[in-house]
Amino acid sequence: MKILLGITGGIAAYKSLELTRLFIKAGHQVQVVMTAGAKAFIQPLSFQALSGSPVRDSLFDCHQEAGMGHIELARWADQIVIAPTSAETLAKLRIGRADNLLTTLCLATDKPIMVVPAMNHLMWFNEATQENIQVLKQRGFEVLEPAVGEQACGEVGAGRMLEPVAIFEQVMQAQKQRLQWEQDVLQGGAFWQGKSVLITAGPTFEDIDPVRFIGNRSSGKMGFALAEAAQKMGAKVTLVAGPVQISSPPCVKRVDVRSADQMFHAVQEHYKDNDFFISAAAVADFKVVHKSIQKLKKQAKEDILSLSLVKNVDIIAWVAEQPKRPVVIGFAAETEHVLGYAKAKLKQKKLDAIIANEVGEGAKGFESDQNSVTLITKDSFFSFDEGSKKRLGFQLLNAIASLNLRSGCVESI
Ligand code: CTP
Repeated sequence: MKILLGITGGIAAYKSLELTRLFIKAGHQVQVVMTAGAKAFIQPLSFQALSGSPVRDSLFDCHQEAGMGHIELARWADQIVIAPTSAETLAKLRIGRADNLLTTLCLATDKPIMVVPAMNHLMWFNEATQENIQVLKQRGFEVLEPAVGEQACGEVGAGRMLEPVAIFEQVMQAQKQRLQWEQDVLQGGAFWQGKSVLITAGPTFEDIDPVRFIGNRSSGKMGFALAEAAQKMGAKVTLVAGPVQISSPPCVKRVDVRSADQMFHAVQEHYKDNDFFISAAAVADFKVVHKSIQKLKKQAKEDILSLSLVKNVDIIAWVAEQPKRPVVIGFAAETEHVLGYAKAKLKQKKLDAIIANEVGEGAKGFESDQNSVTLITKDSFFSFDEGSKKRLGFQLLNAIASLNLRSGCVESI
């Protein structure tokens, strides 16, 4: 792999010598680019000796540009790793500045960029830095968050750059995942290119009063993974997200909702414009009949509180009933009789396919990065062994692509 290693100003720059050595030892090519700040901490010659290539540090050096121009350098790389990434460079990347060779390269590339921040813990937790990180994540930057520990400034907190071995492993892991994704994209891309997909994800919260709500343990990760995979395979994706703590995959239209009613309205608004509707959300089956405007008070005499609940609309069943509708794919989150219940839901809700997902104690389904599922249609089964939800997103879409589903195909069961 061709790795462009950016070094910015920070005491952690010395650790990147070891990182360079690890990359070279593993047979990768490394081209180091240093900022002026980085050179204040460490000599370019050390990186040159380890990488076997002259260090690049200037945008306006005719001699260097004559060898490999900055655009060529951006194209050369398979992966850009910036370790350490200073708070200053994070800010520049966020606003798209091109005031040195490294930031210019980052603007001029479509290759994956991994940033490895290192800074004082107060700088790291500063709202500005955190906001920059969030924006970069949304744009698809990979961020290796700093570790907690003693800092060079003598303080203790989060801000230490990860150790070189950990960074090396993450770069290798990211590369492996990308190669897998590329294969998956090649496989299903022809089908998904130009299709539009509406996905719901996460839980819904049903408010009881201004302070309490009824919720569930869905993290939204499976729905978000499907959204990311569909987008990478060329589909236009609308993601209706319940209250979750994850950032959206890049280039996906996100609609945030809280309750089942809000999710229903968002789906009503969008389902007609989509070829597929994948309902990965764990929609609350019931909502409280009378949401209290004020906080409910504990009654001294009563040991039992009763809440009256009323059924929410079954969103997926509603979409499946519509005369002109997309291909409808549901999830069945079950703690027992997983396949049996899933098949029953496929039929009852008139879905085109359903993804059976075991949840609860000991199962991976909720709150985890891992999952194992079975895709079921009226006449086929696809079982997927435990794997990352991100990978499963691609595998499921590939399986769906191979089925060539038409909307309403289960009605005849
Ligand atoms: N679903 C929905 N609207 C609801 C409830 C569920 O769209 N009000 C969808 C889910 O997104 C999922 C499928 O229906 O795709 C099955 O959801 P699940 O919670 O497994 O089943 P329920 O129909 O709620 O039945 P039960 O809770 O009895 O298992």
